[in-house]
Amino acid sequence: MDLKNKVALVTGAASGIGYNYCSYLLFNGVKVAFCDIDKTKCQSIVDEFSKKYGQNNVLAVYCDVTDNLSFENAFKSCIDYFKKLDIVINNAGIFNETMKDWNKTMEINYGGVVRGTMLALKYMGTPFGGKGGTVVQTASIAGLMSNIWIAPMYRSTKRAVVEYTRAVGDPRTFQHFNVRIMAICPGFTDTPLLEGDRVHQHLIKEFYEVAQKFANNFPLQSPESVGKALIEILQQGSTGDIWVVENDENPRLANLPVYSY
Ligand SMILES: NC(=O)c1ccc[n+]([C@@H]2O[C@H](COP(=O)([O-])OP(=O)(O)OC[C@H]3O[C@@H](n4cnc5c(N)ncnc54)[C@H](O)[C@@H]3O)[C@@H](O)[C@H]2O)c1
Repeated sequence: MDLKNKVALVTGAASGIGYNYCSYLLFNGVKVAFCDIDKTKCQSIVDEFSKKYGQNNVLAVYCDVTDNLSFENAFKSCIDYFKKLDIVINNAGIFNETMKDWNKTMEINYGGVVRGTMLALKYMGTPFGGKGGTVVQTASIAGLMSNIWIAPMYRSTKRAVVEYTRAVGDPRTFQHFNVRIMAICPGFTDTPLLEGDRVHQHLIKEFYEVAQKFANNFPLQSPESVGKALIEILQQGSTGDIWVVENDENPRLANLPVYSY
């Protein structure tokens, strides 16, 4: 895929992995709509990038991926500004297992991906007058592991993203819409997602100790590695692919079981 002059919409763009996706996309000649619930941070990042890449190539957009209207408005703003859309990166996500907010984890991590994919099909799909395109979801290695019991909400939303992507990314969907749909499963990555308060505040001591031991066994990779991997995946990936990016290594296809009937 030739990325030059393509247009990408990235959610959760104001921090961590999303920020690094945007940085690598811009470096590769893509115009980028930075979408995030934190519009102020998004705008100041875009102001910085516009000095390097020009105002015409970057846009900051308020977007809450849990809200249909807000999300669709982000698509409209992006298309109004750049006059087209080629790539959608459904990346916004949180890590929250609390009694109070567990449903936000589902609404953002899974609901945000489904909403973003449906909007991508609507705005890029050829049956609706679009020119086709590519969708990449950020899932997680946590959604592929079956041997850990911490973070059940987070893990199950990420597993749902993997299975949704395998289903909606089927070649038959591609034939109909001309939209390629893939997912990236990053390993543990050094971003604010894993900051103490949000993760550990509700945990009992034993749970906390297991989480710490777990973190020690799986050193964090840099978010730049995930940004770099996105470019390779956009260039080489096929619809329905699930890619793993861990330990700062090159992306590799996940080895998922296939049961046919
Ligand atoms: N950090 C890791 O170890 C890791 C590993 C695998 C997958 N991931 C996934 O990568 C993605 C990015 O996470 P990160 O680690 O960069 O975290 P992060 O906290 O640095 O960034 C998440 C961004 O999403 C935004 N966001 C939160 N709720 C939103 C909403 N409702 N609408 C729009 N934007 C919203 C936040 O404002 C923030 O800018 C997430 O889906 C996360 O689950 C992270």
